[in-house]
Amino acid sequence: MRRIKLPLVPNLQVEFTDRDLALRRVEEWVDRGMRLVEVVYGPEGCGKTAWLLQSMELLRDYGFDVVYVNPLNGQVYAEVGVRDLRNELFKLVQEAINQNALARIAWIAYNVINELIRVRRGRVAILADDVFQVIGVRESAMYVKALLNLIEYPPAEYERVITIVTTSEGLSRREIGRHTWAHLDVMWNMARESFKQLYSQLPSGKLGLEEAWRITGGNPRMLGELITKGWNTKEVVNWLMDSKTITQSFINKWRNWLEKAIENPDTLWANAPEELINELTERNLIIHPLPSRDSITWIDQPPPEKDLELGIGKYVAWQTPLHREAVRRTLQELT
Ligand SMILES: Nc1ncnc2c1ncn2[C@@H]1O[C@H](COP(=O)(O)OP(=O)(O)OP(=O)(O)O)[C@@H](O)[C@H]1O
Ligand SMILES: [Mg+2]
Repeated sequence: MRRIKLPLVPNLQVEFTDRDLALRRVEEWVDRGMRLVEVVYGPEGCGKTAWLLQSMELLRDYGFDVVYVNPLNGQVYAEVGVRDLRNELFKLVQEAINQNALARIAWIAYNVINELIRVRRGRVAILADDVFQVIGVRESAMYVKALLNLIEYPPAEYERVITIVTTSEGLSRREIGRHTWAHLDVMWNMARESFKQLYSQLPSGKLGLEEAWRITGGNPRMLGELITKGWNTKEVVNWLMDSKTITQSFINKWRNWLEKAIENPDTLWANAPEELINELTERNLIIHPLPSRDSITWIDQPPPEKDLELGIGKYVAWQTPLHREAVRRTLQELT
């Protein structure tokens, strides 16, 4: 399998690094097939899209027709043996983009896959990235159900169908979890060894590996942001503070809980108000709950059992140490 190149920052391409376990999971689905839809959830910027794009290479090598869609940014890739269907896909997606009907893109991809199964009866995969953000929480469940129907009641006999959906949108995770239509998997930030491999591809003039790890917690997007901002951690935290819109009323309301959660995120586990958990989840600040580390729901290496320095508790974690730092700084500044 060819390892794809990825732009970690503008002007810096890196090779897709490690994630061997996550790629092996895809190979298992190739070998054994899928019974339910696989929905992969994880911290923003941990590498879900990169893994899907690398999986596309892998699946193509195994002779799959593959469609990748990301309705959020209108991106579509198709490795499809039927030229007419491929053209139809691109035409419809372009129309949807022109009409600003992004949610429709997810369904266009679904229809094309449906048609591919009918025509090819072979090996077909749909990789749906960031769909839930666009189609909304309620419709997300319908979309997953529709994908499940492809597996359970296909329009024709087929050899293999693979359906993977990824999201960093926490509330849709809960909505999907209410049904039995999907396996909910979790991808964490890169493990220490993988992060080291990624870091070794950077040009010199950088922060030490140890410090970069401690600051980013292994999140490749945060590493990219650090590089872009000249290794100035404060700038990265400023950017996060701006984008998370943590308001004075939010701080006033939850200050006591937040101060404790900064020291130990597991304080959000036992008795914390659901409203607070929802607000932190919606803002993509925490992952709650974290599955036990030996669970098969981890799509790659799980985080450590507990690492309070990185903001990882046994049951709850900050998405990265920088996310925690953004909350800590806001608490200090909004007194
Ligand atoms: N395994 C990897 N090897 C090299 N670079 C990676 C790897 N995983 C992710 N990256 C880089 O890190 C950045 C963030 O990754 P990516 O966009 O895949 O995250 P994501 O989980 O899809 O984020 P979001 O939740 O916002 O959709 C990108 O620049 C990507 O190219
Ligand atoms: Mg993504």
